[in-house]
Amino acid sequence: MRFTLLACASLASSALAYNRAAVDAFKRPQQKRAEILEKHGLSSHPVLPEKRSSTVETRQASPYLNDATQKFVVNGSAIPLVDFDIGESYAGLLPISDDPNETRQLYFWFFPSTNPNATDEIAIWFNGGPGCSSLSGLLTENGPFLFQAGTLSPVPNSYSWSNLTNILWVEQPVGVGFSQGVPNITNEVELGQQFAGFYKQFVDAFQVHGRKVYLTGESYAGFYVPYIADAFIAEDDTDYYNLAGIAINDPIIGDGTIQQEVVIVPFVEYWSNLFYFNETFMNQLRTRNEQCNYTSYMEKYYTFPPPPGPFPVLPDPYDDENYACDMFDTVLEAAILMNPCFDLYHITATCPFVYSHLGIVNPGDYQPPGAEVYFNRSDVQAAINAPAGTNWMQCTDKNVFNFGYVNNYTLGDTSLGPAQDGVLQRVIEYTNNTIIGGGNLDLLLNPNGTVFVLQNMTWNGMQGFQKDPQSQNQFYVPYHPEYNGGRLAESGIQGMWGEERGLTFYVIQLAGHELPGYTAGSGYRVLEKLLGRITDFSEVSDFTTQTGDFTGNGTIYKRSSGSMAIE
Ligand SMILES: *[C@@H]1O[C@H](CO)[C@@H](O)[C@H](O)[C@H]1NC(C)=O
Ligand SMILES: *[C@@H]1O[C@H](CO)[C@@H](O)[C@H](O)[C@H]1NC(C)=O
Ligand SMILES: *[C@@H]1O[C@H](CO)[C@@H](O)[C@H](O)[C@H]1NC(C)=O
Ligand SMILES: *[C@@H]1O[C@H](CO)[C@@H](O)[C@H](O)[C@H]1NC(C)=O
Ligand SMILES: *[C@@H]1O[C@H](CO)[C@@H](O)[C@H](O)[C@H]1NC(C)=O
Ligand SMILES: *[C@@H]1O[C@H](CO)[C@@H](O)[C@H](O)[C@H]1NC(C)=O
Ligand SMILES: *[C@@H]1O[C@H](CO)[C@@H](O)[C@H](O)[C@H]1NC(C)=O
Ligand SMILES: *[C@@H]1O[C@H](CO)[C@@H](O)[C@H](O)[C@H]1NC(C)=O
Ligand SMILES: *[C@@H]1O[C@H](CO)[C@@H](O)[C@H](O)[C@H]1NC(C)=O
Ligand SMILES: *[C@@H]1O[C@H](CO)[C@@H](O)[C@H](O)[C@H]1NC(C)=O
Ligand SMILES: *[C@@H]1O[C@H](CO)[C@@H](O)[C@H](O)[C@H]1NC(C)=O
Ligand SMILES: *[C@@H]1O[C@H](CO)[C@@H](O)[C@H](O)[C@H]1NC(C)=O
Repeated sequence: MRFTLLACASLASSALAYNRAAVDAFKRPQQKRAEILEKHGLSSHPVLPEKRSSTVETRQASPYLNDATQKFVVNGSAIPLVDFDIGESYAGLLPISDDPNETRQLYFWFFPSTNPNATDEIAIWFNGGPGCSSLSGLLTENGPFLFQAGTLSPVPNSYSWSNLTNILWVEQPVGVGFSQGVPNITNEVELGQQFAGFYKQFVDAFQVHGRKVYLTGESYAGFYVPYIADAFIAEDDTDYYNLAGIAINDPIIGDGTIQQEVVIVPFVEYWSNLFYFNETFMNQLRTRNEQCNYTSYMEKYYTFPPPPGPFPVLPDPYDDENYACDMFDTVLEAAILMNPCFDLYHITATCPFVYSHLGIVNPGDYQPPGAEVYFNRSDVQAAINAPAGTNWMQCTDKNVFNFGYVNNYTLGDTSLGPAQDGVLQRVIEYTNNTIIGGGNLDLLLNPNGTVFVLQNMTWNGMQGFQKDPQSQNQFYVPYHPEYNGGRLAESGIQGMWGEERGLTFYVIQLAGHELPGYTAGSGYRVLEKLLGRITDFSEVSDFTTQTGDFTGNGTIYKRSSGSMAIE
């Protein structure tokens, strides 16, 4: 920078004026930011939520409080490190069956909504793994308060899904988080049955019979959610299992070679200026992609409409001792060599690693020496009715599909992907309300791979999407007025979507794997659509929970032309 300025100093006066402006811009970014915000009617100071009186005292009229749920009450004003009231909630353990001797219990945290539209609904959120806790989603993606990696303290989440509906975060299957008992499942059908057993206990305790149930989740919940939905359908009892729709983002739903390997070189080509691989390496990638038949496979089968299936399953690259066709790990290795902080969940990440309050699980998680894991604090465990002294892990080291053998993955989930064996098809056809999507900054499960798997699937009488859903319609996120110094969200056109025969697919351009965490407005819009509060993702309207003119044309948040120009 210094070199540039000195070199320019000998140029004409217009160049000098330009340089001064540039230098000024470095000197006063805070002032500039405040000016911009004030111009748009926004406060440049963090607006902290008002301290409300404890919801515990004012909850007497809650329809959820009864003799059975009294023991689950959480004092929303007494959450460690949280200096605001998180609202009415209930947490604790419930068994997976009505057997009085049942030893297996799942841990849940339930947040009723004050939204008057929500009275006949309930939604459930699942994180993936297998073996990862849904409390990570609550704390870093879509819960009422957030404690996101790299931040100093919890903040209220203006994009909490509890703004829209009653929502339940559950740690499952048995073996995960605070849940109790010894895992003894080997597949997703058994997982679905165990969850259905738990949910029946929940419905009876909280008296939420007959409610429309929406299942949501991400990543490996691409397996959990359709299989649990299918278990609900199989129960054929709408008093307990009134399934109304599912939404999954960045999900694994089918054959891993198609979802993760075949699509990776095109993904690298698409983001080539970001990866910035050298040409020699790029040519090696292209050659290997051809030798592995991935290029021709994609050309032949990744079409709209697709050729008649079933698509052949390619050899598993991990079965080959040279891993010559493991393009995914080849790309990952090269990316990490160039950028040691490369994050396969969010490819724009650069150094340094940020501090994760949930412990070290995923690549890129970092904790300073001596730092504590939030859910391992004894005061936190006490505040949320969690079993005291649990060594809580964000993702368990137990193999939840193999009797809980620690670090023994000899046997894993023996189920096929729900897109391969009719499960997802049944769920789509039962509800005609299935939403699948992903973030385009996710290397692990990028949107093309997910669409590819769907092209091999038949639902409602036809195979695949007839038109590419990623090039159909624009995904609009409302403009909005908040500036809370904590959680901010994107607005405007954020991606693309398409819908055919009860299945909607969307892509959000600047989301990583944990989509509601990276792009809160888009994630919120997905839930609005799932619940039927908006017609589709192109709808230009406010969030249903906000009123005002936030369309981008109003005075509140109108963008000026050449917005960042120094005036
Ligand atoms: C809830 O917690 C707050 C803060 O610790 C406390 O002042 C209040 O008395 C508690 N309410 C109940 C009902 O325990
Ligand atoms: C529960 O366990 C007790 C003691 O082992 C046994 O007597 C009882 O029959 C069991 N109840 C059921 C429903 O299995
Ligand atoms: C798991 O254990 C329970 C209780 O012992 C038993 O009823 C159930 O059949 C077992 N499930 C499987 C899949 O083995
Ligand atoms: C997705 O696949 C299409 C078709 O091959 C390709 O044009 C596009 O660049 C791919 N996008 C990404 C992000 O990989
Ligand atoms: C690619 O396809 C050709 C022709 O079908 C086959 O001979 C070859 O073994 C395949 N390559 C790999 C790596 O599977
Ligand atoms: C395509 O779908 C069929 C079921 O219709 C399934 O058996 C097959 O594994 C799928 N192919 C791939 C590559 O996933
Ligand atoms: C090109 O990239 C590859 C993969 O990262 C690396 O092994 C190779 O050394 C690079 N070549 C140069 C000249 O940097
Ligand atoms: C791992 O699991 C397999 C299958 O259940 C079992 O046979 C084996 O003994 C286990 N290994 C260890 C080290 O526990
Ligand atoms: C779902 O939509 C299809 C048309 O795509 C229709 O034929 C079917 O009856 C609908 N099913 C339900 C349960 O609404
Ligand atoms: C209730 O839902 C309707 C659409 O069905 C929406 O227009 C309205 O804004 C919603 N109200 C709240 C408070 O969310
Ligand atoms: C969520 O609800 C709060 C409190 O009513 C409100 O201030 C906020 O704007 C809502 N968020 C959204 C995205 O509608
Ligand atoms: C803003 O107003 C213009 C002109 O009236 C209209 O074309 C555009 O769709 C509006 N944009 C939004 C986001 O409402």
